Amino acid sequence: MIVFTNKLEIQDHISKEKAKGITFGFVPTMGALHNGHLSLVERALKENDTCVVSVFVNPTQFDNVDDLEKYPRTLEQDITLLETVSKTILVYAPSVEDIYEGNTKAEHFSFDGLEFEMEGKFRKGHFDGVGTIVKRLFEIVTPDIAYFGEKDFQQLAIIKKLAQKYNIPVNVKGCKIYREDSGLAYSSRNSRLKPDYRKAAPFIFKTITAAKEKFGTKSAKEVTEWVEKQFAKNKFLELEYFIIAEVTTLKTVKRKSKSKTYRAFVAAYADDIRLIDNIALN
Ligand code: PAJ
Repeated sequence: MIVFTNKLEIQDHISKEKAKGITFGFVPTMGALHNGHLSLVERALKENDTCVVSVFVNPTQFDNVDDLEKYPRTLEQDITLLETVSKTILVYAPSVEDIYEGNTKAEHFSFDGLEFEMEGKFRKGHFDGVGTIVKRLFEIVTPDIAYFGEKDFQQLAIIKKLAQKYNIPVNVKGCKIYREDSGLAYSSRNSRLKPDYRKAAPFIFKTITAAKEKFGTKSAKEVTEWVEKQFAKNKFLELEYFIIAEVTTLKTVKRKSKSKTYRAFVAAYADDIRLIDNIALN
């Protein structure tokens, strides 16, 4: 397993390999790796000759300093875990300096309105930070295919838009949400949940699964109100939003149309830990 911390070194390595015809998959992460991340890595290895995994807690995408400081950093453990998947993986774990070169600021992006919905409303500047880091990582790694989880469905849509708008020659692929048996989506933040909140967290997926069932016969407004009521009864989880949106614009649905595809999105606090999830509705 080769671990790079310097962008010039990994660029040099990749360009030599590419000259030999080697294809590269890429999985960008913020580390604290779990089975959700590994499912992306395994797919990348299946569809490419080799795979780069970046591990970088990107400061410019955090709107909350406390969240940034408390974000788990477990590089040694991450490397050990990746080694169990394949020793051919290349890890890129840069410092803030290697990426931002003394100017830790996000660029400003327009993602044709996708950035104003949901996470964009509740986490100011978040997608400028995500756009900044992913664009830089794409420039450094120059992958053939990059893999992103549907767990962050809005992020996936925004990265597809980023690649298209900036003519970045990369194929951006979405991967299914990987869940525990309880239904809870794997997340690096789960490791920070205190026991009572950890036990309560699968309620999120249970509730959106029930919402999906109801969406067959009820309006988006009725389903939304029902979900809000369920969360109001749960003393461990505080709902930030539940939104049913059309998948291409991510705009909240007002009137259902048979020809459109919808998804339900949720963000909730378990104590001070913010969890998100989503589910396809039709
Ligand atoms: P991070 O939260 O570490 O997630 C890295 C990738 O793993 C993302 O594409 C995310 O959607 C995916 N992922 C996380 N949990 C998953 C799960 N349970 N099932 C499937 N995929 C899952 O997302 C980020 O990092 C950052 O914003 C990043 C893109 C790296 C930019 O800093």
